Amino acid sequence: MIIVKIGGSVFSDKAGAPENFNVETVRGIAKEIAGVYPDADFIIIHGGGSFGHPEAKKYGIREGLPADWESASRRRIGFTLTHQAMLRANAKFINAFVAENLPAFSVSTSSTFITENGKVTYGDLEVIKRLLELRFVPVLFGDVSLDLAKGVDILSGDQIITYLAKMLKPEKVVFLMDVDGVYDGRPGVGKLIQNLKHDEISDLLDRLSCTSTGTDVTGGICNKLREAAKIAEHSEVWFINGKIPGRLSGAILGDGFGTRIL
Ligand code: IPE
Repeated sequence: MIIVKIGGSVFSDKAGAPENFNVETVRGIAKEIAGVYPDADFIIIHGGGSFGHPEAKKYGIREGLPADWESASRRRIGFTLTHQAMLRANAKFINAFVAENLPAFSVSTSSTFITENGKVTYGDLEVIKRLLELRFVPVLFGDVSLDLAKGVDILSGDQIITYLAKMLKPEKVVFLMDVDGVYDGRPGVGKLIQNLKHDEISDLLDRLSCTSTGTDVTGGICNKLREAAKIAEHSEVWFINGKIPGRLSGAILGDGFGTRIL
């Protein structure tokens, strides 16, 4: 089984208009997956991009559910609206995948997992396992979550993958981004790392000035690398450019251009 994360910056312009969606890019990704399915099974996870992030920020979802009724009421509405924004993104993904004849089936993240401070503490994978047995392609997404510590929070697609990799032991996890892979420095300035051993990740995090509190100076790659170090204990991990046709097929076949973590 192969898990593919389609990052928000691959399918939308996070700085652009609300809910913009690059249907050509997503159709291209679907086509590459359709080229290998059903010889390989897939789980797809997409990010929030210009759908979930603006709503999550507007309503302060990551701050949890406050004690006073007025603020909590507004946040509950925001929780619902953020989820609805993600469902709209998800519908566009399902349409694009079905147009390539892939039996993509939406699985709502917030109805599947419960978090504690944004990390999965409970996940009911029975539906996902059954979908795979029946040769569907489950499609999950970064979403709002019910959180044991904060009441509500955001569950990112990357966190979902860490949990799924631990439980389902996929042969490969592929992160699609809008840069060519992991760089030793800033993308475009530092050198692209083509092969990385998972026990080299903590040194790289130091070199990239990724602090333990996760202040990202390199556009989210620090958090992804921390998750990748955990995922790589169970499976091969690739970071590749999802906007360039052919790169996903390369990673799937094992001779791709990007960063491979072993
Ligand atoms: C974010 O998910 C989900 C919401 C903001 C609701 P991700 O963290 O996986 O999204 P991207 O890939 O950064 O857009």
